[in-house]
Amino acid sequence: MEKKNIDWSNLGFGYIETDKRYVANYKDGKWDDGELISDANIVLNECAGVLQYAQTVFEGLKAYTTEDGRIVTFRPDLNAQRMEDSAKRLEMPVFPKERFVDAVTKTVKANAAWVPPYGSGATLYIRPYMFGSDSVIGVSPANEYQFRVFTTPVGPYFKGGAKPITIKISDFDRAAPHGTGHIKAGLNYAMSLHAIVRAHEEGYAENMYLDAATRTKVEETGGANFIFITKDKKVVTPKSSSILPSITRRSLLYVAKEYLGLETEEREVYLDEVKDFAECGLCGTAAVVSPVGKIVDHGKEICFASGMEEMGPVTKQLYDTLTGIQMGRIEAPEGWIHVIE
Ligand code: PLP
Ligand code: COI
Repeated sequence: MEKKNIDWSNLGFGYIETDKRYVANYKDGKWDDGELISDANIVLNECAGVLQYAQTVFEGLKAYTTEDGRIVTFRPDLNAQRMEDSAKRLEMPVFPKERFVDAVTKTVKANAAWVPPYGSGATLYIRPYMFGSDSVIGVSPANEYQFRVFTTPVGPYFKGGAKPITIKISDFDRAAPHGTGHIKAGLNYAMSLHAIVRAHEEGYAENMYLDAATRTKVEETGGANFIFITKDKKVVTPKSSSILPSITRRSLLYVAKEYLGLETEEREVYLDEVKDFAECGLCGTAAVVSPVGKIVDHGKEICFASGMEEMGPVTKQLYDTLTGIQMGRIEAPEGWIHVIE
């Protein structure tokens, strides 16, 4: 298979239309067989549930070319499970987990020419999503749904790749206690747009959101969880019922403990103690592991000892081990790597 003629090493995190996408429809209480199609556009009724009341959930994962030339994805079963959890919270039907993994596999296989080559620094981002597709005018769940998967080749989420970023403490909240912060609903991202546009205007790469109830605890950013490293090399990550349970974060905690022999702690992290950490990073599928060099709290700067030039040493070890597993350079734990071809 011949790869597309793309300058892989200079890709940003953007949308490029690829050849095929997967579509399945839910009607009369059941999913149809689903198929791969070529048309990237969707025609919807003006009153579709997704358009009126934002009834949509999504996932994000990546396909990688390994050192020995295989195409693989990373723990797609966990994305399938999280999409099930998201769908249930928004009163949507569940797309069965095995079918989710099969749809991802088929879509990646059909777009194999778009999977960036090993060593290019790029990956194929996979976006499964589901939305209410029939008309809804009183506030209620739709009766019909569409599940789709598309792919797009991407480079680093943050400009500059592995260079530390500066973020700010947001005055806006991302998620309410007992709300939808723990699921991957489009509505969580819509309500973060105002905050991210403000942050970008002020020169920050992202927002740190605090817990909405007390505004004293670290939650997450708009698109990634936090990891902190203590001065004695312990990996600490915020625990909260209103943050997205990041698959990258869960994997990093395992890697820290089982591969690197580091102590890990998942607990509430207070903003007051952030200044005492040695390193800070963001983790997620899009963000991978992105170092944070500085956090600005209303003019007060919290600067990490790791500085603004490169990743801190422990963050780097975590990054190298995780990406080593994803790219097939380091043996993966059982079940983490799903081979496409
Ligand atoms: N937090 C938010 C709000 C996200 O959108 C994402 C991205 O999916 C993450 C965290 C990271 O999750 P994961 O590692 O599963 O991609
Ligand atoms: C991902 O990491 O897959 C996400 O969905 C985050 C988003 C901000 C791109």
